[in-house]
Amino acid sequence: MNFNIALLKGDGIGPEIVDSAVRVLEAVGEKYGHSFKFTPYDIGGAAIDKYGIPLPEETVAGCLASDSVLLGAVGGPKWDTLPGHLRPEKALLGIRAAMNLFTNLRPAKLYPALAGECPLREDIVAEGFDIMIVRELTGGIYFGERGMREGKWGEEAYDTESYSRMEIERIVKVAFECAMKRGKRLVSIDKANVLETSRLWRKIVAETATLYPEVEYSNMLVDNAAMQLVRCPSQFDVIVTSNMFGDILSDEASQITGSIGMLPSASLNDSSLGLYEPIHGSAPDIAGQNKANPIATILSAAMMLLYSFGLAKESEAIVSAVDKVLLAGYRTADLAHGKEALTTTEITDKIIEML
Ligand code: IPM
Ligand code: MG
Repeated sequence: MNFNIALLKGDGIGPEIVDSAVRVLEAVGEKYGHSFKFTPYDIGGAAIDKYGIPLPEETVAGCLASDSVLLGAVGGPKWDTLPGHLRPEKALLGIRAAMNLFTNLRPAKLYPALAGECPLREDIVAEGFDIMIVRELTGGIYFGERGMREGKWGEEAYDTESYSRMEIERIVKVAFECAMKRGKRLVSIDKANVLETSRLWRKIVAETATLYPEVEYSNMLVDNAAMQLVRCPSQFDVIVTSNMFGDILSDEASQITGSIGMLPSASLNDSSLGLYEPIHGSAPDIAGQNKANPIATILSAAMMLLYSFGLAKESEAIVSAVDKVLLAGYRTADLAHGKEALTTTEITDKIIEML
C-alpha cells in the first residue's frame, strides 16, 4: 500500500527524532511491501523564523491532504518572549483544532527492561502497569474564551473552561471503546466537587456506561487521581479526562515509566487521519547533538501504522524491535546514567536491525 505522510519536524531535537522515525518507517515499508511518501512542512519556531507565524496555511493544508502526520516537537527559548498568539505552542493547538483531533491517546507502560528507572518503590510497581490515557484534545480551557480585563483589583487575566454535551459524548465513547479492547476497566477523572463542566462530564459518563455493561467504570477526582497514580498505578487500565487534566496527568504518568523520552501519542479525529508525536518537548539543550532518545517518536510512528493505516503486524514489529533493543541493554544518554550511551542515529540503527 502507499501512504502520504506529512512531516512536521519543528524545533530543537524535533528534526533528529523525526528523521529516526522516518528511517524506521522506510525499513518497515521495505520489509512489508509498503511505500511511504514523506513531505515536510514548517511549524513552530522554525515557521516563525521563516514566515513570522507558527502555523502557516500551507502546513495546515498539507496535513489535511495527507494520510497522516508525524510531528517532532515545537518551542524553545528563542521564541519564549513572543506574545501568546505567536508562540510556537500555539501551532500545536492550531493544528489540533484544524484537524479536529479531539482524541489524544497517551499510553504509559512500564518496560520491564527499564523497571530500574522507575522512581517509585519496587513493591509499588511489582505488578508493573499499563495505562492508556484518553485525553480530550480540542475543548475545555485550552480553547475557551480568554483575555485581559480591568477587575475589582485592577489588571486581571481570565481563561474559561466550557464543554458541550457533544464534545464530552464523543470522547467518552472513544474511551469506553478503548476499554472494551483492553482490560475493560475505565476511570473517568474530573473535579465534579467544584466544576460545572465536570458535573456534566460525570453525567454523560454514567449515561454512556449503560451502553457498555461489560466495562467496569468509576469516577475519580483529579487531585486524588494524581495521588493514586503514584500510590498504585496498576489499578488503572483506561483513563478518560479533559484536556487540561489529561495534560497534567500524562506528564505524571510518563515520569513513573522512567523516562519521558519513551512515551508516544496519537491524536485522532473520527476519520483515519491522525497526528502522531512524542509527548516530550523539543529539548533545546541537547538539540543538534545527536543525543536525543528517538524512541517516543519511533513508537509514535508505530501507533500511526496501527491507528491510521490499520497495519497491526507492522506496528507490532516496531514495538517488539524497541523491546529487544532495550532488553539487549542499549540506551541513549537520558537512560545511560553517564555510562556508555548510543547516539540518536546509533539506537535507530539498532532498532532497524531488530525489525
Ligand atoms: C502536550 C503539551 C502541549 C499541551 C503544549 C506544548 C501546548 O504540553 O502536548 O502535552 O499542553 O497540550
Ligand atoms: Mg503536556
